[in-house]
Amino acid sequence: MLVKEIKELRSLIKAWKREGLSVGYVPTMGALHEGHESLIKRAVEENDKVVVSVFVNPTQFGPNEDFDSYPRNINKDLELCINACAAIVFNPEPSEMYYGDKSTSVSVSGLTSVLCGAKRPGHFDGVCLVVSKFLNIVTPDKAYFGEKDAQQVAVIKRMVRDLNIDVEIVACPIIREEDGLAKSSRNTYLSKDERKAALVLSRSLEIAKDALRKGERNANNINNSIKEVLNSEPLAKIDYVEIVDSDSLKSVEIIERNVLIPIAVYIGKTRLIDNFTFEI
Ligand code: PAF
Repeated sequence: MLVKEIKELRSLIKAWKREGLSVGYVPTMGALHEGHESLIKRAVEENDKVVVSVFVNPTQFGPNEDFDSYPRNINKDLELCINACAAIVFNPEPSEMYYGDKSTSVSVSGLTSVLCGAKRPGHFDGVCLVVSKFLNIVTPDKAYFGEKDAQQVAVIKRMVRDLNIDVEIVACPIIREEDGLAKSSRNTYLSKDERKAALVLSRSLEIAKDALRKGERNANNINNSIKEVLNSEPLAKIDYVEIVDSDSLKSVEIIERNVLIPIAVYIGKTRLIDNFTFEI
């Protein structure tokens, strides 16, 4: 069922709650793919009812980013959600979500000043604002996020903890194409040659995984080996390669605890991200 208005969504969810039903929630910006589908299916398995929001959130895009060109196809998204057994697809207009004179911001410090937060100023403020609004509207028992956006998961978990929002945040594994490319709505921007070149992201991380499995613990060496692979691809331009503590997201020199290895790489004009966590 497609719902456009907050008032209607709230009354449907209240009726479920009166019946004692649990609610799962999957926030998305649409252009749904198998990665989103896996989140929805997991939510359906673990909850009585599932709400998926489809909303290209203007407040998380920078002035020179792809808000206008971000892929939108609500009919296709609706079909995927129905097939995955979501009960409601919430697809509000920006005017339904944001008051013209909105004066409240939601900002998580520290965790947002590194990685994508450093490269995309204001991005996580926009994400936190919209996600906290959606959590207040949907009041889910559990909300599902993909680990491809590992920093987003860490930031949302911190926001939920700090604001005592009564929801469990469930992080779900990255879903990949058969050849290893992490599924992303932005993969649709890639030309045939760029699509081939984009494989360099997962390939560089596999090399790092291999070195870690063989016992390499010097973060600089791992970082260099990833960069070497990325630099071997003429269509790739590194935005960042980092080795960070998986809780604090602070850079590490020697790998002694669980680390997150996130990378952001431009393939032509398209910025792609990927990562893995190495557990000790
Ligand atoms: O990960 C995304 O698609 C977005 O950042 C989210 C969580 C739906 C908020 O707009």
